[in-house]
Amino acid sequence: MTVISKPLIRALKGEPVFPPPIWLMRQAGRYLPEYRKVREEAGGFLSLCYDPEKASKVTLQPLDRFGFDAAILFSDILVVPHALGQKVTFEAGEGPRLEPIRNIDDLGALSSENLQENLEPIYETVRRVSEKLPDNSALIGFAGAPWTVATYMVEGSGSRDYPNAKGWALGEPDTFQSLINLLVDATSAYLIRQVEAGAEALQLFDTWAGVLPKHAFDRFSMEPICEISRRIKEVYPDIPVIAFPRGAALYLPTLAQRSEIDAIGIDYATDVNWAAAELQPFAAVQGNFDPVLLMTGGQQLETCARGIVDALSGGGHIFNLGHGILPSTPIENVERLIEAVRR
Ligand code: CP3
Repeated sequence: MTVISKPLIRALKGEPVFPPPIWLMRQAGRYLPEYRKVREEAGGFLSLCYDPEKASKVTLQPLDRFGFDAAILFSDILVVPHALGQKVTFEAGEGPRLEPIRNIDDLGALSSENLQENLEPIYETVRRVSEKLPDNSALIGFAGAPWTVATYMVEGSGSRDYPNAKGWALGEPDTFQSLINLLVDATSAYLIRQVEAGAEALQLFDTWAGVLPKHAFDRFSMEPICEISRRIKEVYPDIPVIAFPRGAALYLPTLAQRSEIDAIGIDYATDVNWAAAELQPFAAVQGNFDPVLLMTGGQQLETCARGIVDALSGGGHIFNLGHGILPSTPIENVERLIEAVRR
């Protein structure tokens, strides 16, 4: 029997697939009425992440509705600091709040002792989703990359300038490295267990990679991402790993050329023709479609979607957004986008 792998996996391995597989970052979210219903029943956002029954349900909702080529585990990047013992809360409409860690002494408050036990509900979600997944769709596991997770751990919330996280990383790089190392260890262990539970590909979100100067990007964004991927591939050599260092376009070719990385996520500000020339010879390319245009819709939606498909048709390409879907996005626009990509 020949095993023909799923379109997402083939594209991640660098094969041109037509039409390209499509999924959308934050595809399970507030733009879906069925998500809002389950979210309300769950109470807090973190309770939803730790409830395998509800989390597996919302993971599969966008596949039931739209027939995407991939499901992404419903969870959050901040479950890792939470599992390390940091206080994390989500206030309605305000985003995450954490009890900040500002220096090497504060690191003593964290411990990996109960890491796996604390994350067990997430693995149960992965197992449940993989049992119910449609045949041609693949399940993507994920984690935040160490730099982005560290920004939330150190600032205690989202930030505009990252004075504390960047201040520590640039001002005292050697002690900041201890925090990054702790996150490399925890994140590798976490992702290996997601694969064991049924994840078929992994994505590392480095949402705030673009605020780092080059030398700090290399040390605190790129190297930790590659080290995590190396450790995973030691156990699961064939698992495709997608790196998404947002806002770091000019630094991406070096990352794409690293053997640890199979695919690169590009944001909406990255030129797709440049990505086809500079990244795609070395790694599959995912992303770019502007989530604001998905919200706006109209003829431009189709024109831009076709433009991306054409530009990236020569190599591994996964159609996706350049950042997460916006909560006010009309459902008809998502349907139109999928139709435009698959036509
Ligand atoms: O893509 C998916 O559908 C999977 C689930 C997923 C969530 N967060 C669910 C979520 C993924 C992959 C993430 C990643 C994540 N979380 C990132 C990296 C990607 C990115 O968007 O930049 C970051 C920085 C976070 C941290 C985070 N979580 C913030 C800053 C916020 C508040 C902002 C917001 O959109 O509300 C969250 C909350 C969050 N994570 C929601 C969802 C569906 C909204 C919570 C709700 O339902 O009220």
